[in-house]
Amino acid sequence: MRLLFIGDVIGRAGRAAIAEHVPALRRELALDFVVANGENAAGGFGITEAIAQEFLGHGVDCVTLGNHSFDQREALVFIERAPHVLRPMNYPAGTPGRGAWLYETARGDRVLVMSVMGRVFMDALDDPFAAVEKELAACPLGLACDAAILDIHAEASSEKQAMAHFCDGRVSLAVGTHTHVPTADWRILPHGTGFQSDAGMTGDYDSVIGMDKEEPIRRFTRKTPGSRFEPADGPATLCGLFVETGGDGLAKRVAPVRLGGGLSQAVPEGAELFKSAVR
Ligand SMILES: [Fe+2]
Ligand SMILES: [Fe+2]
Repeated sequence: MRLLFIGDVIGRAGRAAIAEHVPALRRELALDFVVANGENAAGGFGITEAIAQEFLGHGVDCVTLGNHSFDQREALVFIERAPHVLRPMNYPAGTPGRGAWLYETARGDRVLVMSVMGRVFMDALDDPFAAVEKELAACPLGLACDAAILDIHAEASSEKQAMAHFCDGRVSLAVGTHTHVPTADWRILPHGTGFQSDAGMTGDYDSVIGMDKEEPIRRFTRKTPGSRFEPADGPATLCGLFVETGGDGLAKRVAPVRLGGGLSQAVPEGAELFKSAVR
């Protein structure tokens, strides 16, 4: 199978990059399944039902969230009727929505997607490792699903890498989100799991992790109340990780995707024509 995971989509600029690039990526890379992290899609904070629907319309199959899951209060309600939207599975029992779901592709393959949040330098949620272990026991790769994708929403690279190795050989892809900068460590782990510490954001990189620069700089230099953060609205770079799996559901090939905006461009081998068309 051919899978694409897209990192945190930030505000209007990020949404425009989804609209512009996902339909073509889907076609050019013959993608079977696309996941995008949408926790910053609505003005940088949370997601609305309309935006989640917009993503589906552009060819995203599943939207994962993170610490900003419920910044838009309507998410507390619509997430219950939106199985294509996942919040981290280690929120306390009783939190609306779900953290993992089994999807079926157009070709009839079953894809398990899981969202989990780290605890280092973040809110103290339930144990993410125990949560993932329980889900993998319930839906083992190769038996109950044909591919498994884990979004590790965490601040610390150490926690992301520990989680990825914890799942190595048991998921097709374990990819970090939340830090909004793509890391150069994409690879296949020893037991066959595709990995990248952070997929990077889909947003305007002429910013401070997606936000207009002025207010973050002000907050670092002055300790007085200022204005609210606003997403930067210049051209966005779509950042993500492409993974091709074999018959066993494990990764055969991983390649970064960076399209548009200010970052150096990257597309998987075989899609160079597409890249030159974008440039
Ligand atoms: Fe984020
Ligand atoms: Fe986050």
